Amino acid sequence: MSGPDRDTQAFFGARAAGWEERFPDDGPRFARAVAELGVRPGDVVLDAACGTGRALPVLREAAGPAGTVVGVDVTAEMLAEAVHRGRGGLAGLVRGDVGALPFADGTFTAVFAAGLVSHLDEPEAGLRELARVAAHGAGLALFSPIGRVALARRHGHELRPDDVRGQPRISALLSRAGWTTTLVDDAEDRWLVLAVRQ
Ligand SMILES: C[S@@+](CC[C@H](N)C(=O)[O-])C[C@H]1O[C@@H](n2cnc3c(N)ncnc32)[C@H](O)[C@@H]1O
Repeated sequence: MSGPDRDTQAFFGARAAGWEERFPDDGPRFARAVAELGVRPGDVVLDAACGTGRALPVLREAAGPAGTVVGVDVTAEMLAEAVHRGRGGLAGLVRGDVGALPFADGTFTAVFAAGLVSHLDEPEAGLRELARVAAHGAGLALFSPIGRVALARRHGHELRPDDVRGQPRISALLSRAGWTTTLVDDAEDRWLVLAVRQ
């Protein structure tokens, strides 16, 4: 793996063990976001940048025994923590870069991505790669269980005017990448964007 991912992996690698203890109250927000994505029994679901796999239990429950769930993350320590937490029994866990996913065109019927888009050096390219592996009509949820302003403050700064998650920027990026935005909830306590593969 090359390029800017090394910084990302160092950052998240150092935070993997304890990641979930830092955010003990996020579970219901993940469950609500997955419900709004509308994952159905039998779906083939990608959790892009799954980290420790916080979303995997609810994605697995929604996809049911007939469904398939795969989590991908670039940071080995995050995936090791996911295994440590038993998430390997809920989903396939694959180390990989969202910019170059190891899946065939049109594989997934639903794509969930929490905390990803602001970490991508080339967000449009990453969203286009998610579109490549998504089937026609597949749903996409870009999610954060904390609002943009609160997250910036947690990181010790104010919200930047060029934040990739702001409107109309995120919808324009999605459109160029092959997605049609259906919802933008830029709330104080979460950020959720839903889109459909064109
Ligand atoms: C803020 S964490 C979110 C993890 C998880 N989705 C959650 O909500 O707990 C961001 C994750 O994105 C992963 N990541 C960042 N860039 C990536 C890329 N290009 N491909 C795959 N994973 C990436 C990091 O390794 C990290 O696990």
